[in-house]
Amino acid sequence: MKHLLKLLDWTSEDIMTVLNLADQLKYEQKHGISKKYLDGKSLGMIFEKASTRTRVSFEVGMFQLGGTALFLSSDKTQIGRGEPIQDTARVLSRYLDGIMIRTFEQKEVEDLAENGSIPIINGLTDLCHPCQVLADLMTIREYKGKLDGMKMCFIGDGNNMMNSLIVGALKTGMSISVACPEGYEPDQLVLDFAKEYGDKFEMLRSPKDAAKDADVVITDVWASMGQEQEAKKRAEAFTGYQINADVMNAAKSDAMVLHCLPAHREEEITAEVFEDHADEIFEEAENRLHAQKAVMVYLMGSTPIND
Ligand code: CP
Ligand code: NVA
Repeated sequence: MKHLLKLLDWTSEDIMTVLNLADQLKYEQKHGISKKYLDGKSLGMIFEKASTRTRVSFEVGMFQLGGTALFLSSDKTQIGRGEPIQDTARVLSRYLDGIMIRTFEQKEVEDLAENGSIPIINGLTDLCHPCQVLADLMTIREYKGKLDGMKMCFIGDGNNMMNSLIVGALKTGMSISVACPEGYEPDQLVLDFAKEYGDKFEMLRSPKDAAKDADVVITDVWASMGQEQEAKKRAEAFTGYQINADVMNAAKSDAMVLHCLPAHREEEITAEVFEDHADEIFEEAENRLHAQKAVMVYLMGSTPIND
């Protein structure tokens, strides 16, 4: 059974198939073509962290595809009271056709997949954010016409976003340069994977060096969910790791800017750069809906693709 636990598990072909399907679903929605690819199906959405985009886009996406989505907050279910994930997986597999989960540990997502018998979708863990990166790749291709040969730059924390962007970029033919302070590097699993791609991946300390000739410049918050206590220490460590006019001058003149949101203006990105690139950033947010509909159809549906 296919899941979306992390992009490392997906082939380049899986990714391209979903990106093509996402474009098709976006076209159909914009042209009033309504196809109920997931008629009668149910998606459980387990949230152990906050969310605006992920929750709303999955719920609306499922509705548009003819199915139903159930919001399962950890503090209102037995998960929050310690029921083992192994049991939760076996129970929910008997009611639902798929589960989206947002949580802390990647292991929880992997355990859900191992013990359940329905597709599991990672809606963000401390390790990665594959749904967001599928939407990011979709947006880059929409603006630039292709992914192969493009250069991505990520500035900031070696967090879930940086991890997934490195994998997503390399698997779709892009090169990627990241800039992060010492001690905030991406996960070792990702660094080992990136080694296979030679000079298509580079990890630097200087944001301007990383942004050199980039086609797309991306950042994320300095303190992710669960790191609120360390926010002050992290703000000091990330001083200078900001997308600003200087960094954009190093990138290509037509470089785009992406941010998964929520954004903290004047921290990881200046208000000026954010507003100059707001069209791209909010298209990226919209594309969460289309990309996730594609993921659900790919994993849970019986479209021509799966037939
Ligand atoms: N980008 C993203 O995942 O947003 P939410 O936290 O609002 O879901
Ligand atoms: N890195 C951020 C992403 C939010 C969508 C976090 O984990 O909080």
